[in-house]
Amino acid sequence: MVDELQLLIDLHKDASRQGPGGDDETRHAIALSGLKGATNLKIADIGCGTGASTLVLAKELDAHITAVDFLPDFLVKLEEAAGRADLADCITTLCATMETLPFTEAAYDAIWSEGAIYNMGFAAGIEAWRKYLKPNGILAVSEMTWLTDQRPEKLQAHWQREYSEVDTASAKMAVLERLGFSPIGYFPLPEYCWLDNYYRPMQQRFTEYLHRNNNSEAARAMVLAEKTEISLYEQHKAFLSYGYYIARKIDG
Ligand SMILES: C[S@@+](CC[C@H](N)C(=O)[O-])C[C@H]1O[C@@H](n2cnc3c(N)ncnc32)[C@H](O)[C@@H]1O
Repeated sequence: MVDELQLLIDLHKDASRQGPGGDDETRHAIALSGLKGATNLKIADIGCGTGASTLVLAKELDAHITAVDFLPDFLVKLEEAAGRADLADCITTLCATMETLPFTEAAYDAIWSEGAIYNMGFAAGIEAWRKYLKPNGILAVSEMTWLTDQRPEKLQAHWQREYSEVDTASAKMAVLERLGFSPIGYFPLPEYCWLDNYYRPMQQRFTEYLHRNNNSEAARAMVLAEKTEISLYEQHKAFLSYGYYIARKIDG
């Protein structure tokens, strides 16, 4: 298990992102959030990985960002990138699990999380993180989403096994509403966020990764699992994406 985690870190730590996404899409979510122009914001970026979204938030907003991940290797990469971009002063990294955040209640203007809330589950994450937001605070999360009401059996079965909470945007918005948020924006990530920004760079790392790990059975199994996911995405990309959800906390 520990070896498997090390292999996962090794495959992903040199990437600029660990899941589908894009800088333009983070900027679009910021625009929808209405945070642009506000000053002295406090933002948490949960499951930040090597910090693709953290760096955009730091560039675009007058904010201090607490970048949270439970893998220190990813946070080191983020700190290096923040230093290179001259953004280190507005980013603090925090090695913590998203289930047990050492945050004060009502402390944050916004909670961001790209492609990571599924680790807790969409509803559980929203419920747990809500209390850390100030009144009217913003939640911005991307989450695996069905783009259509019906989908191929094979695709449904795969994602049901991997993440049983995959659902349509309307169902996700209903969850947000039920848990005390008012949805203020939604958009699905375009294909290039998966193919050009995530899968293609990963595919280019496979050979070197296998070599580094002595072509071990575990490393080969990890590459095979990624290849299966990529092929499934390529065949069925009309049916699923990450949806980006932006919502405002409702108080009272
Ligand atoms: C799919 S990656 C997305 C990373 C980054 N947000 C991005 O879009 O490139 C999910 C991230 O969540 C982190 N993660 C997974 N489970 C976690 C947990 N329980 N607590 C904190 N971070 C976790 C992983 O280490 C990884 O960096």
